[in-house]
Amino acid sequence: MKVPPRLQPLIEEGLIDTVVRQLMSGKEAMVYVVRCGDETLCAKIYKEATQRSFRQAVDYTENRKVKNTRQARAMAKGTRFGRQASEAAWQSAEVDALYRLAAAGVRVPTPHNFCDGVLLMELVTDEHGDAAPRLNDVVFTPEEARAHHATLLTEVVRMLCAGVVHGDLSEFNILLGVRDGVVAPVIIDLPQAIDAAGNNHANRMLQRDVANLRNFFGQFAPDLLATDHGLEIWDLYERGLLTPETVLTGQFERKTGPVDVGSVIREIDDARDEEMARRLRQQQGS
Ligand SMILES: Nc1ncnc2c1ncn2[C@@H]1O[C@H](COP(=O)(O)OP(=O)(O)OP(=O)(O)O)[C@@H](O)[C@H]1O
Ligand SMILES: [Mg+2]
Repeated sequence: MKVPPRLQPLIEEGLIDTVVRQLMSGKEAMVYVVRCGDETLCAKIYKEATQRSFRQAVDYTENRKVKNTRQARAMAKGTRFGRQASEAAWQSAEVDALYRLAAAGVRVPTPHNFCDGVLLMELVTDEHGDAAPRLNDVVFTPEEARAHHATLLTEVVRMLCAGVVHGDLSEFNILLGVRDGVVAPVIIDLPQAIDAAGNNHANRMLQRDVANLRNFFGQFAPDLLATDHGLEIWDLYERGLLTPETVLTGQFERKTGPVDVGSVIREIDDARDEEMARRLRQQQGS
């Protein structure tokens, strides 16, 4: 196909040879299948910040680590240099997370390169070598649903042990890949991934990620709907007891001690911010 202008520099630099086809145009990115030597890869082109939804701005920019103080000041002021810096921080967050998670043994697409706002990574494929379906496009037996749910909980734990919370984990951001003949879920779409240790929203994001998994697989195996892994995982993590080998019970005794008013108020503030972001998105028609 005709080379999209954003991929032209990568052709010129010899990082890709040809563009095979467009795979998707999502909220934050356009995704293409490309060839490079005898490899078929996936190229994710990030859209400009202004074309993205407002939600990330509320939830995720907080605590994004920027080492350079001039950059940090410019980002806070929202100057043009600042916007470019936020944009770069956002894009490299996905690359950083991919490298960190791949190293921790989480099944994510292997990153190959990051150049001019384009992420080159492994194309996750099905048994025929075609782009793999999202979980949302697949129907599962109860046994398959239980097995994938368990695998993904272990992945969530492995991510948390590596200090990362996905923050947007759902049936739309997990592909059902086949690698060496083995079918297994592959986690994608990580630009909003957050640092578990330094972010006030980390627990809330984790709870949402885990609840999304339960609710999705619970459609196929209703017994999963009675499980409650999120609070158990966070509790073990906070107490320094969580490892990828930890056996989870799926049950959690909620403590009924004195109420932590500060955290209740933070939750209310968060919910209000989210609602405002939702309304803004509706107004913007996205
Ligand atoms: N490495 C990959 N291998 C195969 N397919 C991929 C890969 N990365 C992305 N895709 C496909 O492209 C789609 C969009 O990718 P991604 O979720 O990363 O971007 P996005 O802009 O956040 O999209 P959305 O708004 O749909 O969430 C995915 O749903 C998936 O179908
Ligand atoms: Mg996505």
